[in-house]
Amino acid sequence: MQRTWQNYPGSQGLIDLVMFRIPTRVALHPGSVQQLPQVLAGLGSKHVLVLTDQGVRSALWFDDVLSLCGSHDLDDSIEPNPKHHSIDRLGEQARAGSYDAVIGIGGGSVLDAAKAVSMLAANLGPVASFEGKNRFPNPSIPFIAIPTTCGTGSEVTWVSVISVPEEKRKISVKGDGMFPAFALVDSNLIESLPHHLIASTGMDAFTHAVEAIIGKPSNPTSDILALEAIQLLWTYLVDACTETGATHAKERVMRASTLAGMAFGNADVGAVHCLSESIGGVLDLPHGLLNTLLLAPTLSYQQDSIQEPLGRIASAVGVELDVFVYALTERIRELPLSDWKSLDINPDLFDELARLAEGNGSNPSNRMNMTARDYRAILESL
Ligand SMILES: [Fe+2]
Repeated sequence: MQRTWQNYPGSQGLIDLVMFRIPTRVALHPGSVQQLPQVLAGLGSKHVLVLTDQGVRSALWFDDVLSLCGSHDLDDSIEPNPKHHSIDRLGEQARAGSYDAVIGIGGGSVLDAAKAVSMLAANLGPVASFEGKNRFPNPSIPFIAIPTTCGTGSEVTWVSVISVPEEKRKISVKGDGMFPAFALVDSNLIESLPHHLIASTGMDAFTHAVEAIIGKPSNPTSDILALEAIQLLWTYLVDACTETGATHAKERVMRASTLAGMAFGNADVGAVHCLSESIGGVLDLPHGLLNTLLLAPTLSYQQDSIQEPLGRIASAVGVELDVFVYALTERIRELPLSDWKSLDINPDLFDELARLAEGNGSNPSNRMNMTARDYRAILESL
């Protein structure tokens, strides 16, 4: 096997010490997807597996992007909140197909699925057996991430979140060898995205940035990226979701999404994601919408423990700390999104959801020690 920094002995310990790293090559401008042929040529790629979902496949621009993928096989079967058995099937297909790269074109579900399939193309075993950090022996085959929503950040992170419905939970598979090789972030691809998806995925990005700053693993480099993302989203997200929303607002939101991804990929997420992933795992509800609705109540609940970082966020958007959560709630009300009641979550599930949130791998990243009792209190406050 070829030696790279990713599989060099000892690199895993080194990566933990380095704190901030982004090995993915990132093109972050409108039209960047046109670079795909040069990227594939640079990789020496002869035959690639293209993964997407049916919604993205029906986009007007899809065939144009597909025509840039060279010799390829296409699979459009990726489902929302991708399930482990679908990933295992695609992993088998990837190993059998002798592909030299995987291209994921889609939102967070597609990118997480394609990232896991790139790893399984080089590693034999069910995806769930690699749950955790650096549990797979070989680096992924090159993965090219092309996001078509503005929230996931998956195009610049080492993690893939996969649902295990039988256990009613989501697992995280992550590792130094799972970073995408390239991220082509092209805001032209969100021009026709429905407004509610710009809103919910944009708020997912906002949540990534906020949690990167208020969490224990925050660091100066990720803070800068996250604060820039927060300012961009605070200024442009509402505009990006209106009929008159200018193209430049969507470009700023798309940019913020990737910056926030770099930030939380080098810090972590926290309580909002712990709870949204537990609810998403049990009830298969949209990740971005859950984060949007959980963000303000969770910040409010943790306020005493996060005064200092929250103060920096408030001042970055020009709001006094003591009214920040209120201003955020008002800002979210301007977005074309459904409310908590419409999700119709049965309170009988609260104990289970709270317990799963406490068990989430990101729970220790919270400054406030969050137990199932705390998560239950947040759910009840909604
Ligand atoms: Fe997220």
